[in-house]
Amino acid sequence: MPERFTITTPIYYPNDRLHIGHAYTTVAADAIARFHRLRGDDVFFVTGTDEHGQKIEDRAGKVGKTPIAYVDEIVSDIRDLWQVLGISHDDFIRTTESRHEQVVQEVFRRLEAKGDLYLSQYEGWYCTPCESFWVEGKLVDGNCPTCGGPVARLNEESYFFRLSRYAEPLLQHIESHPDFIQPVSRRNEMIQFIRQGLEDLSVSRTSFRWGIPLPQDPRHIAYVWVDALTNYITACGYLQDPERFNRYWPADVHLVGKEIVRFHAVIWPALLLSLDLPLPKVVYGHGWLLLGEQKMSKSRGNVIDPRQLVRRYGRDAVRYYLLREVPFGSDGSYTEDALILRTNVDLANDLGNLLSRTTAMIERFTRGTIPAPSGSSLRGLADETVRRVLERLEKLQVSDAVAAIFELVKRANKFIEEEAPWQLHRSGDGRLGDVLYDLAESLRVTAVLLSPFLLDAPNAIYRQLGLGSAEGATLADAAWGGLPVGTKVERGEPIFPRIETEREDSAAVAEADKGPASPPATEKAAPAAAADETGMITIDEFQRLDLRVGTIVAASRVKGADRLLELTVDLGESDLRTIVSGIAEHYRPEELPGTQIVLVANLQPAKIRGIVSHGMILAGKTSETLQIVSPREALPAGTRIK
Ligand code: MSP
Repeated sequence: MPERFTITTPIYYPNDRLHIGHAYTTVAADAIARFHRLRGDDVFFVTGTDEHGQKIEDRAGKVGKTPIAYVDEIVSDIRDLWQVLGISHDDFIRTTESRHEQVVQEVFRRLEAKGDLYLSQYEGWYCTPCESFWVEGKLVDGNCPTCGGPVARLNEESYFFRLSRYAEPLLQHIESHPDFIQPVSRRNEMIQFIRQGLEDLSVSRTSFRWGIPLPQDPRHIAYVWVDALTNYITACGYLQDPERFNRYWPADVHLVGKEIVRFHAVIWPALLLSLDLPLPKVVYGHGWLLLGEQKMSKSRGNVIDPRQLVRRYGRDAVRYYLLREVPFGSDGSYTEDALILRTNVDLANDLGNLLSRTTAMIERFTRGTIPAPSGSSLRGLADETVRRVLERLEKLQVSDAVAAIFELVKRANKFIEEEAPWQLHRSGDGRLGDVLYDLAESLRVTAVLLSPFLLDAPNAIYRQLGLGSAEGATLADAAWGGLPVGTKVERGEPIFPRIETEREDSAAVAEADKGPASPPATEKAAPAAAADETGMITIDEFQRLDLRVGTIVAASRVKGADRLLELTVDLGESDLRTIVSGIAEHYRPEELPGTQIVLVANLQPAKIRGIVSHGMILAGKTSETLQIVSPREALPAGTRIK
């Protein structure tokens, strides 16, 4: 019996184009929704737009448009963005739709019937960008406690919702439902907040017209947050489609940014209690994507356009970065370098390379057909990976779930090094079939598990394994052994071509603290050529290495890492590189400036202790000593070593 699963994103303000902060929430919700579909659940995934309020009315006025004409345009842009990112919502709700207006009006009638609505005088402070009222005591230095911006004094007639009445029942609910507010830090904040006491909430305005009039007093417009939160029940069919409503309400997860947890975990459940409706099961407040130290936001103007990133790097790379980079729940800084690094390291090297090496070896060693195995070394980890992904997603640990899948990919790559299938082939070892089957089957399981997160790569993997499309795969397909023996692989283009940045023509990296365990750079960069049966490389392959003389111009210790130094290396022609190198136990920073070194200049950048390192210096190491490789006589910085 499939379980039903309802997940929502916040409904976005259509007051400007959306940025990757908004895409972050939506892509995460999409991945979770897709995962539940993969499990066979009956999923209802809803997103939409929050279109009323003074801010929109003002903005539209400024550009000489009616509010509806203004939002129509932005909403169609938002829909298009979700299409670009492959968002699979089942409903897109706009608060300007009549199905929603009817529900909001009925909600106000019911609040009144319950004795929870009364007319009074509102005195306080209002923050327009946050659409929030504040009493004097909550202001910070006279400004809005959420955004720090100025607030305006308000004194007017307003309807109030008896929020104070629900403080106790809410606390009881939170205490008896430990999973209701997640992660636990936000739960604790909310408990604190409610314990300080809840004041009744002003829920109507008379100072603007762009909104839903109260049925009992149409001079008053519904407060935007009551209007907005109610979208969740409208979308589920409240009052209009009882069967659907019973099926899809309460929501399993309201996924929201941490700044609006208070609305979802206090005001919204109080309204639902008043309406005698069941409460959502989980309100999950994720962290922010920051640009530098600051939250990315339209009002600050520090935003990144997701479309541009998709054009440059493809939708899978952008989705992967958003889902993987930041531990879900925490804040994290966005940088394009990190996106490139993630794509090159995880997707191009680890995943892409595994696929090209595997299909290349099957072509060469078993005439392109999947061989029959007699045993498996990777099956245990593959089965365990399925369990881990399920378990982590159950707890909404999105980035950890993705990381678990890549553990399998990494293990499979390492397995190639360990087993050296070209040697098994040469010596006619019967284990060759086991190894190749293990690799191909691990890739297939990976494709199934990745299918909620990435949209194109799983299909490409299926295609290259000779299995058609991964579309329609279910979690049952992640069970080991689904790859039919005898399938003809169809080797294709690399699924994630490495992203070359301008600098990288002459540039690159060090992986100082990874050490010699990582496979040789040539093998990573040139998968097809690398699987040489003899283990020898050609002169062409050697020439792919860009080895250069550089002069160290500065050196300092890396905080918190005993083995690492951060070096600035001059490579001539104004090419100054930052290199993180594991030589701190052998050289003091002050003795290094002026020293010439040999740098592998075209290694992919690597982030080490938060510093992006653009090259690796060569050194010889014994158990006693470590010696940097230097030219015998000084050479101009940048000289190529051949
Ligand atoms: N309209 C309200 C929500 C009403 S829900 C009933 C709103 N809209 S918003 O357009 O400002 O979008 C808010 C959501 O976008 C945040 O809660 C968060 O989920 C997401 N994000 C916006 N900027 C973000 C970051 N910089 N980082 C991560 N998420 C961000 O608030």
